[in-house]
Amino acid sequence: MAYTQDELKQQVAKAAIEYVKEGIIGVGTGSTANYFIEELAKVKHKIDGAVASSEATAERLRGHGIQVFDMNEIDTLDVYVDGADEITEHMHMLKGGGGALTREKIVAAVAKTFVCICDETKYVPVLGKFPLPVEVLPMARSQVARALVKLGGQPKLRDFTTDNGNVILDVHNLTIEDPIAVEAEINQIVGVVTNGLFAARPANVLLLATAEGVKTYK
Ligand code: A5P
Repeated sequence: MAYTQDELKQQVAKAAIEYVKEGIIGVGTGSTANYFIEELAKVKHKIDGAVASSEATAERLRGHGIQVFDMNEIDTLDVYVDGADEITEHMHMLKGGGGALTREKIVAAVAKTFVCICDETKYVPVLGKFPLPVEVLPMARSQVARALVKLGGQPKLRDFTTDNGNVILDVHNLTIEDPIAVEAEINQIVGVVTNGLFAARPANVLLLATAEGVKTYK
């Protein structure tokens, strides 16, 4: 049976509830994460609340009556559930299509288990077809763009301001064979807050919605 992409996102969001046990849950950003919030709301009696990777997610969680905690109140999280724009068999992800990459990386850093929820269109052999988002301090925009061109990319300024008051350069035409190295290299450019490669801290579990059902990779 052929499912729409939205149906696949809904199915994988539902499957992620298996990883919600108790305590405080890390919640990502994007349309797949939004479906997860709807599922989380159905089991909210089991948890104390959530930390959110964006203002949009925080608002949506509160709308469902789920308490949102500040990251600074949290030492560790058992689980962080979020989508991705691309993911490989090595669990390296490219994220930030929704512009929340920096907060996503902060929440992911304290989570014991990162559960990535995706439909099968996101599963790729090599990262980089999706433009790589880089969050940049506004005053460094041009200088960072020039440095990204030197790395072989084509940065384009997104018409968007992040929750942190910064800008995003979407870098086109990168074929990212070594995501751990590229993640570190771009983060070294002065003025970069962070980039959308999640390779140094990859996902621990991938729930992938396919036409044959939700597949689990660990
Ligand atoms: C948000 O900044 C991103 O990292 C999202 O996780 C990513 O864009 C996936 O979004 P969708 O679930 O809407 O495809």
